[in-house]
Amino acid sequence: MRAAILTVSDRCARGEAADVSGPAVREALEEFGAEIVESALVADEAGPIKERLTRWSDEMSADVVFTVGGTGLGPRDVTPEATEAVLDRRVPGIAEAMRAGSLTKTRWAVLSRATAGVRGRTLIVNLPGSPRGARECLELVLPVLEHAVEMMAGEGHCAEARGNERPGTSDN
Ligand code: MTE
Repeated sequence: MRAAILTVSDRCARGEAADVSGPAVREALEEFGAEIVESALVADEAGPIKERLTRWSDEMSADVVFTVGGTGLGPRDVTPEATEAVLDRRVPGIAEAMRAGSLTKTRWAVLSRATAGVRGRTLIVNLPGSPRGARECLELVLPVLEHAVEMMAGEGHCAEARGNERPGTSDN
């Protein structure tokens, strides 16, 4: 899986804070065996977010692009809107799984407006901005992302991904 990481943070973009969340996501992805092909840091501005997501998707440099931060309720939190503006199709289950799984760890999970979907053959997934939150959400969805990438390429369907099922779950 070729992955890209876009950290979205005003404070990091201004140099007032170090980006620790992007590197935390990178580490988790590398542990999973993903290749990191692009990474960047932008301010909480829709234009630069859309520009990176569009370029990385349309040049097909990445199978999956993860944004990190800007999913909350702050006046400058625009990552979900910028993401949805460039998506062809939403994949609501990814963000639903992240919120549901995160709720077992923190009540604040409901405050992430993260979204996910497909542009061309690239999957775009929003992660929250805290290093722990980003990593927790990533770990909740990583097991299905490889198969999502295969599906986008037209290779097979869920029945062929059996064997990764949790005990007691159905794949029908
Ligand atoms: N999800 C997980 N798993 N762990 C967390 O610590 N933090 C929450 C939420 N989702 C969190 C989480 C908090 S406090 C907020 S405000 C929202 O994500 C949005 O975060 P963001 O604005 O940095 O994207």
